[in-house]
Amino acid sequence: MYICSNCWNESLIWKWQCDFCKSWNTLKEFKESKEKKWVRVWEKKSLALISSPHEEESRIITTSIELNTVLWGGIVLWSVMLLSGEPGIGKSTLSLQLANWIHEEIIYISGEETLGQLRSRAKRLNIEWGNIEILTENILEDIFTSIEWKTPKVVIWDSISVLMGWEISGTGGSVSQVRYIAEKIVEYSKARNITSIIIGHVTKDGSLAGPKTLEHMVDTVLYFEGEKYDDIRMLRCLKNRFWATHELGLYKMTEEGLHDLDNPALELLSWSEWIGLALWITIEWRRALIVETEALTNYTKFWYPKRSSRGIPQSKLDLIIAVLSKYTPVKLESYDVYANISRGIKVEEPGLDLALAMSIISSKLGKTLPKSSVFIGEISLTGQIKSVMLLEKRIKEALKLGFTEIYIPHGSKEKLTASIDPKELTALKDFLHIKDIIAIL
Ligand code: TYD
Ligand code: MG
Repeated sequence: MYICSNCWNESLIWKWQCDFCKSWNTLKEFKESKEKKWVRVWEKKSLALISSPHEEESRIITTSIELNTVLWGGIVLWSVMLLSGEPGIGKSTLSLQLANWIHEEIIYISGEETLGQLRSRAKRLNIEWGNIEILTENILEDIFTSIEWKTPKVVIWDSISVLMGWEISGTGGSVSQVRYIAEKIVEYSKARNITSIIIGHVTKDGSLAGPKTLEHMVDTVLYFEGEKYDDIRMLRCLKNRFWATHELGLYKMTEEGLHDLDNPALELLSWSEWIGLALWITIEWRRALIVETEALTNYTKFWYPKRSSRGIPQSKLDLIIAVLSKYTPVKLESYDVYANISRGIKVEEPGLDLALAMSIISSKLGKTLPKSSVFIGEISLTGQIKSVMLLEKRIKEALKLGFTEIYIPHGSKEKLTASIDPKELTALKDFLHIKDIIAIL
């Protein structure tokens, strides 16, 4: 907290000019003794509990459709959320942008960045200061004191690994500290009817820096991820006490912060035909997404042909090459094969098989695949094209995007006649075996 040395007016954020007496450069940081503050915060807590009128609505609906989707409608009031992800992925950016996405009062506590850094970031993000106040502090007790008389709807804690409590030993980010801080934040939020968003860093291996128990202590766990050298970001809900998980939100990181990626096809596709390029529809957490897969085959200069893949497990690539060599005229024993999935998307699901096979065939034969085509299906060891989960959803997505050649497993067309417009049925081409589908080239 900052206090004006001229008039004793209090301010949560540091300003050049005092709001009350208008004198310049008189705001000084003010810290009280630890014990006293602690008691005061918790006395206030019980008062707040009794007097607070419960709100009618249960969710804060944001203007980010992607965030609403991931959270099944919006941010649940009085819930505690953990937003985790690797350092630098955009967690602070996302939380600061909440100020533009909701009308409710927010307090953003930053233990990591200075006011100057936050100000310039907020400027880049076009944040109006109407509904957000910033506090740069990392001692929990001091934070509670500073926000004691505030009545925010949302408090953002950035980040749990730098917040520290005096009452517990250990340095910031240590297991005991993280646990303690999380406990206090949960207690504080529930008692005061505040929605808290706790930011947590994830280490390279994907585990949260701090105890796993942290995930059990909160209501919702969100995970923000993306490739370092790409601007697509994915927001996943790993745990949701209020509703189901498995919804995926997509964002694009720009110079002015994150934007909803409401039409991923525009972003993820090059919209032109190339040798070695095949399109398919994947299901990422129940969301149908159009993705490109590319392959390159080259006569090998070495004893053993090289196989290399990005975004696709190597074993899958080996398997598809083996099936092609066995059942089709596309022989690859003396060819290097490279395969990629674009835009940092990683795929393990079997729905990719057919598109991967087609991209390899296209490269080997030196011919482009039919215009406006998409391939959906699993390939078995016998060379059969098999159905995949949520096939109908994938097909509908392909139709919605206007694709006119949708290659699918044999037998699935009949099953879909009832649910698809008869005019669109002509777009569906079904094949039984990988050897038959080669004829389209
Ligand atoms: P940040 O939110 O600080 O990540 P985290 O809190 O997860 O550590 O985001 C940092 C990255 O985001 C940084 O590399 C710069 C980039 N960025 C943009 O590209 N555009 C923007 O408008 C902002 C604010 C950040
Ligand atoms: Mg950050």
